[in-house]
Amino acid sequence: MKKHPIAITIRSFGLNLKNQKELQKTCSLRYINTTGNRLTGPELSEILKGIEGVIAGTEPFSRQVIESATDLRVISRVGVGLDSIDLDAAKERGIAVKNTPDAPVQAVAEHTLALILDLLKKITAYNTNIHRGDFHVETGRMLAGKRVGIIGLGRIGTRVATLASALGCTIAYYDPFRMTGLSETWQACSSMEQLLETSDIVTLHMTPHKSEKPLLDTESLSLIKNGAVVINTARGSLIDEPALIHALSSGRIAGAGLDVFSHEPYSGRLLEFPQVVMTPHVASNTDESRQQMEIEAVNNIITAFEE
Ligand code: 8YV
Repeated sequence: MKKHPIAITIRSFGLNLKNQKELQKTCSLRYINTTGNRLTGPELSEILKGIEGVIAGTEPFSRQVIESATDLRVISRVGVGLDSIDLDAAKERGIAVKNTPDAPVQAVAEHTLALILDLLKKITAYNTNIHRGDFHVETGRMLAGKRVGIIGLGRIGTRVATLASALGCTIAYYDPFRMTGLSETWQACSSMEQLLETSDIVTLHMTPHKSEKPLLDTESLSLIKNGAVVINTARGSLIDEPALIHALSSGRIAGAGLDVFSHEPYSGRLLEFPQVVMTPHVASNTDESRQQMEIEAVNNIITAFEE
């Protein structure tokens, strides 16, 4: 039986023996990204020549890339977001697109909580100060009793709500596609404005709009409760960066916890703000969830070829 030529284009993949054996039954691995970098569109087009299946990260599968990959039949995403793939172009070409929506849930939800706690307790700020020999003390804030406003009550949003509520928070959510939460105590907001005006912590758990129009822009950030913190472990394009910088400078929002950025790797002006805690798009990147995502991505590519 002829094996399907495949490529692993995600920037890091733990190709363990078990995964490798599974793949080798039906696929022949032609390329693995060992650059450590996210591939660009032109690089992808070059790599995908003659390739039928790809195990992908967040590198851009634009219309141009998809149309140039004439043999491609399956894109198997290690992760949940499909915003890096032109789904219309894939559909037109009959390319199956798979993802691993459950595997990253707990890791991303925990990371969200970690960012929230870091901001309220000023852990990163204190750590930086102490390393500089500065032992001065400020006051932190408790998490218990805070109102956590969740925008997007999908798998990750729901897990964040569950964890935060176990820690004594009240939960509000806004999701135009979901009118009920897991618990009756979670309050559904009829508008995003209502959520922004009343939440102490605002956390984003949705995919960006196709147009990439930011969800939090100057107007919506001006509605946010004074002293609230904003968390983004979803996608950088959900927040208008200059508007966030303005809201931080004016003190309207007390801080931000960001794992994702409009441009990654990020090196912009947010670096100037000690009240912004940043991680390099690693919320799902725990040993446990990573392994699970990779196993599922391998299974997905194999079953897609069978189908
Ligand atoms: C992954 C993510 O790091 O799942 C997603 O959409 O953004 C992250 O969990 C990314 O998919 C690379 O695999």
